[in-house]
Amino acid sequence: MTRTPVLIDCDPGIDDALAIALAAASPELELAGITTVAGNVGLAQTTANALALREFLDLGDVPVVPGCGRPLLRDRIHAVRVHGASGLGDAVLPAPLRAATEGHAAEFIVSTLRERPGEIVLVAVGPLTNVALAVRLEPRIVEWARQLVIMGGSSTRGNHNPAAEFNILTDPEAAAIVFTAGWTVRMVGLDVTLTARVTPQVLDRMRVLGRLSDLLVPCCEYYGAVAAEGGPALHDTCAVASVLEPSLLTWEPARVEVETFGRYTAGMTVTDFRAPRPNAEVATSMDVRRFWEIVLGAYSRLGSRLG
Ligand code: RIB
Ligand code: CA
Repeated sequence: MTRTPVLIDCDPGIDDALAIALAAASPELELAGITTVAGNVGLAQTTANALALREFLDLGDVPVVPGCGRPLLRDRIHAVRVHGASGLGDAVLPAPLRAATEGHAAEFIVSTLRERPGEIVLVAVGPLTNVALAVRLEPRIVEWARQLVIMGGSSTRGNHNPAAEFNILTDPEAAAIVFTAGWTVRMVGLDVTLTARVTPQVLDRMRVLGRLSDLLVPCCEYYGAVAAEGGPALHDTCAVASVLEPSLLTWEPARVEVETFGRYTAGMTVTDFRAPRPNAEVATSMDVRRFWEIVLGAYSRLGSRLG
């Protein structure tokens, strides 16, 4: 089997954790590295969570490299209300035994893509600060990356406020750099991720997966306590699932411009599906039944493997 190498930039974060678990559970993917950024919680915590997840999910020597502790220009915002102070809700993982890899995430992204041009899918499921810095460090990463897939934005609505989705709102300037860097951004936004809800039936299937349930269930129960009707949405997991099976989603070319000035609209991803020069492929729908087949099947195999 040809494995697809992925580099996940994230801010774990409950749905980040379940996205990393999906990657860990998928032999079709090779996890080339995890880079962390401040977002849902602070950088020290997102990094500690990534290190704990590396060991809990038996990810071996996958590098974990911390990046930016704050947005390029703006003051940091967070999502502690949604993810808890730990960033993983009520899940308690064994403290990691091994430290993060030396260096900065932006440099790691550049060096990893340089070493394997055309091979690696960069999956960014947090604020885009690290990715923007990497673009500024080495603009050629837009050619070296096989693809850039982000969980972020929306062509229709926000979540952290009516106009903007959290990842983009946290660092609109970084997002603007990423969307104008010259690659075609695969945008997995709220248009589709809000359909990936952990219903009680889905949660029941997560309860019988051995020690993996000790991550999935307390995370989703905490997430669900603050979620809207229908259960919590596994936003970031959709981005990883889209790498596993791109046909899971419908993609439409569009020009996405990031609002960086609006008093009420900063962070809005203004999406023009009729633009002559698209810079993105925007996911507009998802086969939710197939999504859960993929995700729960992968978690079940991982649960058996972890014991
Ligand atoms: O808006 C959802 C996104 O913001 C997800 O990536 C979640 O982890 C938070 O970072
Ligand atoms: Ca995230």
